[in-house]
Amino acid sequence: MRISAVPDAADVDLEKIDLFDPLLYSDGDPHPIWTAMRQRAPLHRQVLPDGRQFWSVTRHGDACRVLSAHREFSSERGSLLHQLGKGDAASGKMLVSADPPRHSELRGPLNRMFSAKAVASAEPRIRRAVLATLPPPGHSGPWDVATSAALLPMAVAASFMAFPEEDWVDLVQWTSMAAAPEDPSFRVSSPAATLAIAHHQLFDYFAKHMRHRRANPGEDVVSYLTTMRAGSEQLTDEEVVYNCYSLLLGANATTPHTVAGTILAMAEHAPHFLRHGDADGTRVPLLIEEGLRWTSPASSFLRHAVQDVTLSGGTVREGDAVVVWVGSANRDEEVFSEPFRFDLTRDAGRHIAFGFGPHYCLGSALARIALRIYFSEFLRRFAGAELAGDPVHLRSNFIAGLVHLPMSLVPRAGT
Ligand code: HEM
Repeated sequence: MRISAVPDAADVDLEKIDLFDPLLYSDGDPHPIWTAMRQRAPLHRQVLPDGRQFWSVTRHGDACRVLSAHREFSSERGSLLHQLGKGDAASGKMLVSADPPRHSELRGPLNRMFSAKAVASAEPRIRRAVLATLPPPGHSGPWDVATSAALLPMAVAASFMAFPEEDWVDLVQWTSMAAAPEDPSFRVSSPAATLAIAHHQLFDYFAKHMRHRRANPGEDVVSYLTTMRAGSEQLTDEEVVYNCYSLLLGANATTPHTVAGTILAMAEHAPHFLRHGDADGTRVPLLIEEGLRWTSPASSFLRHAVQDVTLSGGTVREGDAVVVWVGSANRDEEVFSEPFRFDLTRDAGRHIAFGFGPHYCLGSALARIALRIYFSEFLRRFAGAELAGDPVHLRSNFIAGLVHLPMSLVPRAGT
């Protein structure tokens, strides 16, 4: 998805837009459309050729309402747009597809494992994993930031889940296929077949590891899932497998795109920052939050109304599907001044790149540590980065990201 242009929304014909089409996000630019929707149609209905239909919300306030008000909007019929009209086999079993009170029972014990304090104690391990995905110190010339960053969350999450390093490339491939089955780099025949293969491989893999950990528990997250209590019961085998999937997909599908998109934004909009670096470490936290707002890699989430609800621009009826466009909410002019400026002095704290409400990203503390280590070290090693070819944007209506980002890097003197 192109994310740098200041959009011209005046000419957008809202009768003709197709927000479902993954090509809009790889070859086009949704921002003029979202801007027009925030201005003229904050509640917009699209009917697909097969009759399925969904509402879209694009304003920050509505996005927060839909994501957080679980008594009004359920996650149990799927939280991804491709599940529209199909339901969710993991309903009530997987964290992201469960509503409270079941969601709270699952989330409570997992919060302990992924709290800021718990992940901070793993920082040395995370650092080793992150540094391995950076271009080496002194590297000069071309480097594909997107492909190298693809292994970053895998290295971090795999060390938590204790998946052997020889499996990481396969796991990245399968999670990429599951997150963006339409993308030509990952697609195997049809998108539906791609998704089916990815699910089959991943569920098989997690089931094998679950059986092993049940017999030989360790200190890792998979072992924790096999022993933790959600409510009064331990998780079933199926619940363990679904939640392994949710954790690995949550990490792999998003973090690399924030890395690549933020490096691109820095190179294009803040080369002076790149040149001077961040010796005292005060600006990297701002870079992380502005980078998350700017890239908004988890771009859309689905909910279903459980009662009639009035939002800006109209009322959705019980049972209707509603899609929240996170990338739009994070450019809402009512909340962020000059939202199309990549601004490293901005307090971007109100971004909802990690969601909002009960499903707020479980891995946010882990992601923020990984991003801090990556950006601090990148700025320590490099004083310049320029595009060295055309970026290739991911073909997906769920994840906004980059498949390739060829950059030419200039090492910082003395590294
Ligand atoms: C830059 C990185 C990341 C971004 C932008 C991101 C974004 C999000 C968003 C927007 C949600 C809310 C989903 C919803 O409302 O339905 C979410 C939930 C979730 N994320 Fe992340 N995520 C990131 C990294 C991670 C990592 C590293 C992990 C793994 C440890 C992870 C695991 C999860 C899980 C398990 C959920 C479901 C939480 C729940 O339903 O209670 N995410 N994430």
